Amino acid sequence: MATTQTFPPVDQRHQKPLGSIEVPPRILLGPGPSNAHPDVLKALSLPPVGHLDPFYVDLMSEVQELLRYAWQTDNRLTLPMSGTGSAAMEATLANSVEPGDKVLVAIKGYFGYRLADMADRYRAEVVTIEKDWGQAFSLKELEAALSKYKPAILAMVHAETSTGVCQPMEGVGELCKKYDCLLLLDTVTSLGGVPLFLDAWGVDLAYSCSQKGLSCPPGLGPFTMSPRAEAKLNKRAGKVNNWYLDVSLLNKYWGSDRVYHHTAPVNMNFGMREALRLLADEGLENSWERHKKNAERLWSGLEGIGLELHVEKDLRLPTLTTVRIPEGIDGKAFTLHLLKNHGIEIGGGLGTLAGKVWRIGLMGYNSTSENVDLILNLLDKELPRFRDNSACAA
Ligand SMILES: Cc1ncc(COP(=O)(O)O)c(C=O)c1O
Repeated sequence: MATTQTFPPVDQRHQKPLGSIEVPPRILLGPGPSNAHPDVLKALSLPPVGHLDPFYVDLMSEVQELLRYAWQTDNRLTLPMSGTGSAAMEATLANSVEPGDKVLVAIKGYFGYRLADMADRYRAEVVTIEKDWGQAFSLKELEAALSKYKPAILAMVHAETSTGVCQPMEGVGELCKKYDCLLLLDTVTSLGGVPLFLDAWGVDLAYSCSQKGLSCPPGLGPFTMSPRAEAKLNKRAGKVNNWYLDVSLLNKYWGSDRVYHHTAPVNMNFGMREALRLLADEGLENSWERHKKNAERLWSGLEGIGLELHVEKDLRLPTLTTVRIPEGIDGKAFTLHLLKNHGIEIGGGLGTLAGKVWRIGLMGYNSTSENVDLILNLLDKELPRFRDNSACAA
């Protein structure tokens, strides 16, 4: 016999009456996210379909193939992790590190420390080499560390968002082969905007994000793994120490079996497919050239108004520029002023560069000469008012 359930009265204290969201207009010229392309926003708002719908399954393959193009790789295991760049970062380590493996992390900024922290959590024996924030490693320095530590994995950041440095990669993969270790590369701030040749460079594991050079909102973390890294995964003694990010399980969904793993964020993948389609439509070389040209316009404009760039020209990232905050200026008050009064976001410094630099991003959809001129004009006209704290952020 059915019994009638009784429930306590609904607690109304947290039920706040709200109108629907109205997002203030923003131009995102910071370290990310960048503005999403309008076509990507349209794709995101399409009606969801089931994550095993044949239409969606075809779209998954398109996303994988276009990611291979964007990264210049033939890696079979190439897919967008559900989660932000940090999830994909964690996936590269989770799938390659076995407890006790030696992982050498070449640190030259904030995100190198994150790699070391994550590797430690997977019980790697972490060893590090470090450079000042604003510099890159030479092949000689990398080789000295590889020969000293003989690691199973060398992990490093290609585009260090905290400093604006682009690590030269030519020759690093050959060194890793010589010392029989895998090469793991963070390409979060380079994918789509800076030349990347994963296979030619001998990169074994890489990850990125959706919200920078791909002009998509945050939420997906592209991931890729070479046959060498796959061979290490297949030889593991134990399970990958992370169920959600275990690529051998994920590949049963992303590979030919199409077995349920987790409910894919289908709309995010609509957005990713559209973002990658736009990138392929423009062509990688054209996109890289656009980023380079706009960055150079920004650099000469900044120097033209008397500002100093933090990184020497040869190592500068086209997607992210660090510019020194002049003496006597409250950097935070100025960024707040730009946001409140002009709807423009630029970033402050991270870690050892906190309070010393601003970070100006020109990524994906936002890498335009109009945006460069806009920020240069504002810096030129409005920065003098902020000297010696004489201005307010009104
Ligand atoms: C170089 C680098 N690596 C990793 C990350 C982490 O990505 P997310 O914030 O999308 O998790 C970021 C974020 O900006 C980054 O710039």
